[in-house]
Amino acid sequence: MASVAADKIDEPAALRLTNVTKTFGGVKALDSVAFDVRSGEVHCLAGENGCGKSTLIKIVTGVYEAEAGADIEIFGHRETAISPTAMRASGIAVIWQDLALFPHMTVAENIGFDEMVGTIPRPVRYRQMHVRARDMIAKLGLKLDLDARLNSLPIAQRQIVAIARALMSDARLIFMDEPTASLTRAETDRLLDIVRTLSAQGVAVVFVSHRLGEVLEISSRVTVLRDGKLVGVFGTQGMTQSRLSELMTGASVEQSVSARDRSAAAPVLEIAGLGREQEFADVSFTIRAGEVVGLIGLIGAGRTELAHALIGMTQPTSGHVRLNGNAVATRSVRDAIASGIAYVPEDRLSLGLIQPQSIADNISITVLRRLLDRVGLISKKKKGDLVTKWIADLAVKVGHPDNAISTLSGGNQQRVVLAKWLATEPKLLILDSPTVGVDVGARAGIFRIVRDLADSGLAILLISDEVTEVLSNADRVFHMSNGRIVGEYDPRSAQAGDLEARIYA
Ligand SMILES: Nc1ncnc2c1ncn2[C@@H]1O[C@H](COP(=O)(O)OP(=O)(O)OP(=O)(O)O)[C@@H](O)[C@H]1O
Ligand SMILES: [Mg+2]
Repeated sequence: MASVAADKIDEPAALRLTNVTKTFGGVKALDSVAFDVRSGEVHCLAGENGCGKSTLIKIVTGVYEAEAGADIEIFGHRETAISPTAMRASGIAVIWQDLALFPHMTVAENIGFDEMVGTIPRPVRYRQMHVRARDMIAKLGLKLDLDARLNSLPIAQRQIVAIARALMSDARLIFMDEPTASLTRAETDRLLDIVRTLSAQGVAVVFVSHRLGEVLEISSRVTVLRDGKLVGVFGTQGMTQSRLSELMTGASVEQSVSARDRSAAAPVLEIAGLGREQEFADVSFTIRAGEVVGLIGLIGAGRTELAHALIGMTQPTSGHVRLNGNAVATRSVRDAIASGIAYVPEDRLSLGLIQPQSIADNISITVLRRLLDRVGLISKKKKGDLVTKWIADLAVKVGHPDNAISTLSGGNQQRVVLAKWLATEPKLLILDSPTVGVDVGARAGIFRIVRDLADSGLAILLISDEVTEVLSNADRVFHMSNGRIVGEYDPRSAQAGDLEARIYA
């Protein structure tokens, strides 16, 4: 086990916990875990999906209670009963993985929420709240419409709102559960700068991310969990990404597959001159059977908007779409599914899943008609077989398929979204940022599935921000910027660095 980063070793512990255990219906989410973070330290919590990271944060912030025997000290005080309000009052803030914002309130209201509804009843001071929210956004060097309703904003901007909200309380210990999951590189860099500033001011930051480069860049120590157990605490000096992923998975993860030439295969999707006012224009390309086409670009480049038009959520205002040689005009998502198009959205929490329903229901919802028996009722056996198959194929870590989807860890929910759409047996599969929030081991698994699907003749459109991921998994790559396709690349010759420079130029 590596030693503590030398510069922080004398700092007092902001948080120290030992022997923390939490069981959910027989599953040990945490098993006698120890963890500590010092004031001014950035400490990462790393591990595969479902290893217990979010659960640890929820215990320290009073959302869940640890089992008997746990010892938790916060700023030197031994805590026996932790409540979310008491924690906030003692200087702890959290950016939750699912953001936990209020979709119908404005940006300003979301940022100022805790002030607005303090523990003491008092009139809401809207103007002051507005000013404070504006100052915080400015301090973060960002631009956001304070009066926009949250549900009108793209996920990346909602994430920024969650960050601003957490920073409003002048916390001394901040938990950030995958704060960069939906952010672009530029936004991530800005957030990492903010984290460095906070740490220089003596704030302790516990940071969770599946982007291992980021973990090594920002933290001085990393605590690795595997299946709810502590693997160890490691200094990040000299640590490599591959070593870290070995510690997380217990095995080495191989990377990189070369692109194939599919130019002789039959076209599945052909789009010509496709446009939608204010969103994208003059988009033309073809995806052939068995081909994985990557679409990279910045958030706001029009990639998700293009996907929404293809899946029938919106209607294009110009151009043509052909599927297997036939003109299609999809008026609704139902039309699109019927014609063989499936879409795995980037925003899995609001578009991808029905939160109160079970894992099994979420997987089978898109194909209910196929599950009917002779008298028109849903066949339990057919449904059970389908659900079992996809849980096994995608290695979803579940207690029982009838549990609510909300009992799954974030990355496992993402796999259920994928399963739900793959169950429709589509001809064209659109994946929008499929590995956001997914651990390294599972990423490799998802891409293995993507390639198997392509080999079985599926055409795949892969939207992603991660250039290296697209280069190692797509057969051809398009760059989209300001609503237009501005470049095409062959992954066999393109250099990740060059491509990144062009995208972020
Ligand atoms: N409320 C709950 N009910 C039942 N099981 C739960 C509940 N919350 C978490 N779990 C289970 O506890 C385990 C740890 O989940 P947790 O959310 O802490 O994982 P994580 O490390 O944050 O993963 P990810 O990287 O995917 O976010 C998982 O097996 C999860 O299914
Ligand atoms: Mg989590």
